[in-house]
Amino acid sequence: MDTRLIMMQLAYLLSAVLFILGLKRLSHPDTARGGNQLAAIGMLVAIVATLVGGGIVTWQWIIGGLLIGGLVGGLMARLVKMTAMPQMVGLFNGFGGLASGLVAAAEYLRYTHGKVVESGVAVSEVPLDSSLSIMIGTLIGAVTFSGSLVAFGKLQGIVTEKAVKFPGQQVLNAGLFLGILALMGWLIISTPGAIAGADPSSINLWYWGLWIAAMILGILLVIPIGGADMPVVVSLLNSYSGLAASAAGFVLNNNVLIISGALVGASGLILTRIMCKAMNRSLANVIFGSFGEVAGKGPVAKGEKRTMADVNDVQADDVAMLLAYAKQVVIVPGYGLAVAQAQHKLRELCDNLESRGVNVKYVVHPVAGRMPGHMNVLLAEANVPYNQLYEPEDVNPDMANVDACLVVGANDVVNPAARDDPNSDLYGMPIIEVDRAKHCVVMKRSLNPGFAGLDNELFYLRNTMMLFGDAGDSIGRILEEVKQL
Ligand code: TAP
Repeated sequence: MDTRLIMMQLAYLLSAVLFILGLKRLSHPDTARGGNQLAAIGMLVAIVATLVGGGIVTWQWIIGGLLIGGLVGGLMARLVKMTAMPQMVGLFNGFGGLASGLVAAAEYLRYTHGKVVESGVAVSEVPLDSSLSIMIGTLIGAVTFSGSLVAFGKLQGIVTEKAVKFPGQQVLNAGLFLGILALMGWLIISTPGAIAGADPSSINLWYWGLWIAAMILGILLVIPIGGADMPVVVSLLNSYSGLAASAAGFVLNNNVLIISGALVGASGLILTRIMCKAMNRSLANVIFGSFGEVAGKGPVAKGEKRTMADVNDVQADDVAMLLAYAKQVVIVPGYGLAVAQAQHKLRELCDNLESRGVNVKYVVHPVAGRMPGHMNVLLAEANVPYNQLYEPEDVNPDMANVDACLVVGANDVVNPAARDDPNSDLYGMPIIEVDRAKHCVVMKRSLNPGFAGLDNELFYLRNTMMLFGDAGDSIGRILEEVKQL
């Protein structure tokens, strides 16, 4: 092996180590920023090594791609709203899948057009490991691309968020999958013959047929899943995009792609599992069930219908009194905090309470919001110190001693039915037990349900007060009142 190749492999090894260390550091908020930077340096090392190693594309293409890609990515990350983050991740997964699939396609076309040259002679046989990697990379890349586009469309409201189901759907999907496997097998067997013979165009046509069939499969796999379950699907597709990158690594014989793809594949799968567990649902239930598909469209009370007359409706001044004279206050942020973008005002209110001697804890549920770590990101944006963040199990045992819980735009994660009602869809999901506190204030705009589409008994309890309105406005009014006390 010449020195240049050895240097390139060593650089790849370094970048793989940086990816792993970066991932490790992402597991704690204190080290997460550093972890992100380490992984970014790892990516830079890999790109520079590929450039120096050369032989793939020219400098102009790589630098042009870096500039255009960096500009588009940077702009998208800056402009996207926090609540639209899941669909952006979905879109990026799709592009990742497409890129890996195109690597496989380029390699396939190189072979069939006799452009792969070894010892001065065009290769007439595709090695089995290469054609297997090409077919697997194509399948996963195409499924990830089209599936992610559908997930993006559902989250963005371009495609219906309802689960689209029809009779015989599972049979059709299974049949299509088997057909794709058969086509892959046939292409693996036939390609060397096509290379040895003259015209590769007919075999290439079948290869593009594989692309189309795999993209249809991606669409069919995602349309039966309700819009509300999309974050879990996006995480699963993220894992697929990693596997597609890994397959592209095998195609190109590129170690760093294999390793980084495997890291993305494994971490996406672990994240999917964590999300399912925190919702107390199996992956099969997410993929084949239609839970929450019409969430947020109105109260779905299972018993008699409740109205505003059944709740204890309060004003900001009442809440200000309660909070300012409490000893222990627990804040429970939820999806509504992200919608209202009220994190900065919330922090200001909590700082004010602390300066009065009130002990304030923020309790973050693992699936509060619409994406993993959604609340952590929001609170970090408002510079809430990490040592004020608690997990539900840290606070639940002592909840009876909490003077006031302030539920800011959260709903399902505080629904007592998840603990008490075996017939509820939420039953078994761990919750933050705010109903056991001395007082609970719920801030939301109406009695509408949250993600799960279920009514919440918490709103009607005697120790619960409802403060209706946009969370940002309500917190602003409470803050003004607290300042005057
Ligand atoms: P939700 O149960 O979805 O409730 C959010 C509440 O916020 C709604 O009831 C809504 O009520 C209120 N809201 C919306 N905009 C508001 C605003 N501007 N001001 C005040 N309130 C506002 O949220 P959650 O408690 O955070 O639970 C998350 C749910 O999402 C769970 O069921 C979870 O399983 C699911 N989920 C989460 C994830 C991840 S990874 N986080 C992934 C998939 C699914 P109004 O309309 O009445 O205001």
